[in-house]
Amino acid sequence: MTFHVITLFPGIIRGALQDSILKKAQDKGLIQVEVYNLRDFAQGKHRTTDDYPYGGGGGMVLKPEPLFAAVHHIWERTSDKPKVIYLTPEGTLLSQALAKDLAQQKSLILICGRYEGIDERVRLHLVDQEISIGDYVLTGGELAALVLIDVTSRLIPGVVGNEDSVKRESFYDNLLDYPHYTRPREFKGMKVPEVLLSGDHKKIEQWRKQQALQRTLERRPDLIKDKDKNMKEEG
Ligand code: ADE
Repeated sequence: MTFHVITLFPGIIRGALQDSILKKAQDKGLIQVEVYNLRDFAQGKHRTTDDYPYGGGGGMVLKPEPLFAAVHHIWERTSDKPKVIYLTPEGTLLSQALAKDLAQQKSLILICGRYEGIDERVRLHLVDQEISIGDYVLTGGELAALVLIDVTSRLIPGVVGNEDSVKRESFYDNLLDYPHYTRPREFKGMKVPEVLLSGDHKKIEQWRKQQALQRTLERRPDLIKDKDKNMKEEG
């Protein structure tokens, strides 16, 4: 899968992809991240990418021309006309389910905003989907784009070594994850639950399910409500 990222700060994106699992995924050719500096698509001596908002008020707005030019540049060089996603706190909240949908795409264009945002005409005529990573305001869309790349990439087969762990972790089946333990059996007087040492796989499975359910009820009862709703909708 290819992520085309349009940003004023390519270093933020590149820097975060130089280590660990996403670096390996790139080396293996499972994902590709192409970074485009918005300034390269701006016109004039100063290559201005932002301007004052019409109607006044504080802050600056990213101009439409460089964003249109950057997206068309990518479309002209790709065969599949990737969908355009704009990262903004006003978008649909990113979830594991949304990440699963995104992981089906061959490629995506991610627009990172800065300042007060981007000219509305870009949103109306270029953007297919607006996505938020949470109800808070970041200094720009770059960290949000990285979060989207991360959650989506790890759903691509081969990116995470252990496929089983992707299936079992938090949000799988709308439940939070169960507790994990490793050696030693006892640490500073704290013991690993007996059941995990029993070797009885059925019992372990039951304990994990019960723990996941209890944790979800205590911490995120909204997830259980969503699950009920989804099940009713699916009939
Ligand atoms: N840009 C600024 N804040 C953001 C957020 N919460 N999600 C996505 N993009 C953003």
